[in-house]
Amino acid sequence: MSDHDKSRRVRDMFSAIAGRYDFLNHFLSANIDRRWRRICVREVSGRIPVPVPRILDIGCGTGDLSLAFSGLGPVIGCDFCHPMLRIGASKVRNSSLNQPVALLGADALMLPFADASFDVVVSAFVLRNLADIDRGLREMRRILRPGGVMSVLDFGMPRIPVLAPIYRFYFLRVLPKLGKIISGVEGPYGYLPASVQSFPSAETLKEKAELAGFQNVEFKLLTAGVAVLLLGTAKSAEFDIPRTR
Ligand SMILES: C[S@@+](CC[C@H](N)C(=O)[O-])C[C@H]1O[C@@H](n2cnc3c(N)ncnc32)[C@H](O)[C@@H]1O
Repeated sequence: MSDHDKSRRVRDMFSAIAGRYDFLNHFLSANIDRRWRRICVREVSGRIPVPVPRILDIGCGTGDLSLAFSGLGPVIGCDFCHPMLRIGASKVRNSSLNQPVALLGADALMLPFADASFDVVVSAFVLRNLADIDRGLREMRRILRPGGVMSVLDFGMPRIPVLAPIYRFYFLRVLPKLGKIISGVEGPYGYLPASVQSFPSAETLKEKAELAGFQNVEFKLLTAGVAVLLLGTAKSAEFDIPRTR
């Protein structure tokens, strides 16, 4: 499948379930996704290089991570799926925010922002969906100012002996069926298990982030490895920023 076809397929899937996305997310994860986003904010807030950082949330979807980060600084959320953004926009309108949140249409692989324009870049459950993960990480590095903070949250597979097989059964057999029944379409929950299984391990993600121009890269396994939080700092200006286009 070409990169273009994969992007279109992902966009179509999220368009089809946009109206049910938030409910499905919270229901299928028993609300643990909210806790993961809070941990993401907490980890970033301990590393931010300026008092009021400019924050970019890539693949913001319906805006939950953007809203969570609005306590730290002004946020731009971007996504290439307009039905998801429309729901996000109405949530932003109905929220009482500390800092402004603006949502716009943009592709994570070709961000419409100048080099070094943000202090923090965050992304939740997006990297796995990208047609080119390395290019996505290089774009994150490009739009961050040197010393800026990158934080990426995505699914992993737990490795703990007793939990691993139980979780695998839920994740591979139960979750796709429940997702289909509730959303009415095959959608991302049908493709989720395959996308997570073919997603690089946390160790490989760390290497990829270093190659893309991040330093002090570390990962945290959340909920015994069901989710992975990748953190890093953009290398200094002397680093030759790899161009993506
Ligand atoms: C699983 S949702 C996550 C949404 C949100 N970050 C959250 O935590 O709920 C993945 C989102 O990534 C978006 N996405 C996937 N590939 C993208 C790309 N190349 N450019 C922009 N958005 C993308 C999808 O449209 C979708 O809204």
